[in-house]
This record gives sequence, C-alpha cells and structure tokens, in this order.
Amino acid sequence: MEKVRLQKFMADAGVASRRKSEELIAEGHVKVNNKVVTEMGIKVDHSDKVEVDGMPLETEKKRYILMYKPRGVISAVKDDKGRKVVTDLLEEDVQERVYPIGRLDYDTSGLLLLTNDGEFANHLMHPRYHVDKTYVAKIEGILETEEIKKLESGIKFKDYTTSRAKVRVMSKDKKKNSSIVRITIHEGHNHQVKNMFDAVGHKVEKLARENYGFLTLDGLVSGKYRDLTRQEVAQLKQDNR
Ligand code: URA
Repeated sequence: MEKVRLQKFMADAGVASRRKSEELIAEGHVKVNNKVVTEMGIKVDHSDKVEVDGMPLETEKKRYILMYKPRGVISAVKDDKGRKVVTDLLEEDVQERVYPIGRLDYDTSGLLLLTNDGEFANHLMHPRYHVDKTYVAKIEGILETEEIKKLESGIKFKDYTTSRAKVRVMSKDKKKNSSIVRITIHEGHNHQVKNMFDAVGHKVEKLARENYGFLTLDGLVSGKYRDLTRQEVAQLKQDNR
C-alpha cells in the first residue's frame, strides 16, 4: 500500500469522514507510532501504528493461512533477486498483506503458516512456546544409534544448543547409502535441521515439514493453501499462551 494522508487512512478505516478525522487530529486524539500528531501533512501506511484515543486502528481483517510450500520458492513477501516468493502463490481471494511465520529454506517443502496478525506470529515463533515441528529428511548415509542419541539430546552450535528432539528412522537404503528420517524439534533456528544432521556427519538431500503443532498438510497439494479454521486459530493461541 502506498502511503496516504493520515485523515484519508482514518476515513478508509471507518473512523469518521475525512473532515471529522482532521478535527480529531487537530484536537490531539490521534497518535502515529506512539506520538501525538496534530499537523495534517503526515502520510502513513499499514506498517504505521495509528491510534485514536488509544485504540489501534484495525485496518485489515485478520487472516491465517496454511500453505503447502513447494521447493524452489522463497519464504518471504519479496526477493531482491526476483525469485518466486510464497505470497506469489496466493490468489485473488487473499487481499490481506500476509507474511510467513518463520521460514522454510528455498529447497525445503512443506507446511508454512502465513498471517497478517503480528501478535499471533510473534507468539508462535517464540521458542518459549515450544511448537513441535516435524520434518522428514532424506539424508546421505545410514544413521547410527549413537548419532540418533546425539540428535535427540542436543547438539551444540556456536551460538545455541538444540533442545530435546525426537528422531525416528523410517527407512534405510544400504545400496543407495541413504536414510529417510523423521525428526521433531521445537525451535526454529536458520537451517537447523540441516545443521543438526551435518553435525553428526550426514548431509540432508531433501527436506519437508509435515507437521506444525497439531496441523498437517492433509487435503492440500504442493503450492496450494487453505484458511485455518477459527477453532485451529483458537487452539494455536491456547496451546501457546
Ligand atoms: N531446518 C532446515 O534446515 N531448513 C528448513 O527449511 C527448516 C528447518
């Protein structure tokens, strides 16, 4: 959204007519980014916090989307190099300015949530709230019991140590020298799963996120999405208080 004059922004949000909004501004009822504004020239957009008598303006309906992210797409709303981003996959039914909650790597597929609800996003991303995320990884080599124990009990990196993880080997292919492994973690450090396997000597060849808390990809094909139900949103808020 392009920046618009504050009184237009207020009118568009249904506060009052432009004329009445100008009066509210002049009388000191309006704050932009926590500062009272009384002059008329100022321009704002949705990234600004606009309050009238202490009440923030709700300018967009809150939207909560569960997407099956394909490989080869960036988890962002724009990319400097012009590569495809996840919001390019949204159709006309999504006009709200949603953005991904956390990220999946360019070459990782799977379950990604998008929203325009900042508070909700911050809650889910906070490690304190321990949302379990389950990934299926195709790795090089055969994972040994000792390596599973290391992955599960915590890997020490330069700036963090991973907490408890659950690891299950789904299949091993000795001929091709590879394994399929399911791993559940609850943090979301950059490239965490790949780095964890690297740390025990196995390169990740393919990675997909299958679960995010109680959410699954059931009913979706790669590249498609659906709205979360009210109940799912309520449960995610509830589970993460
Ligand atoms: N861990 C990774 O290494 N990559 C992802 O995309 C997600 C988790």
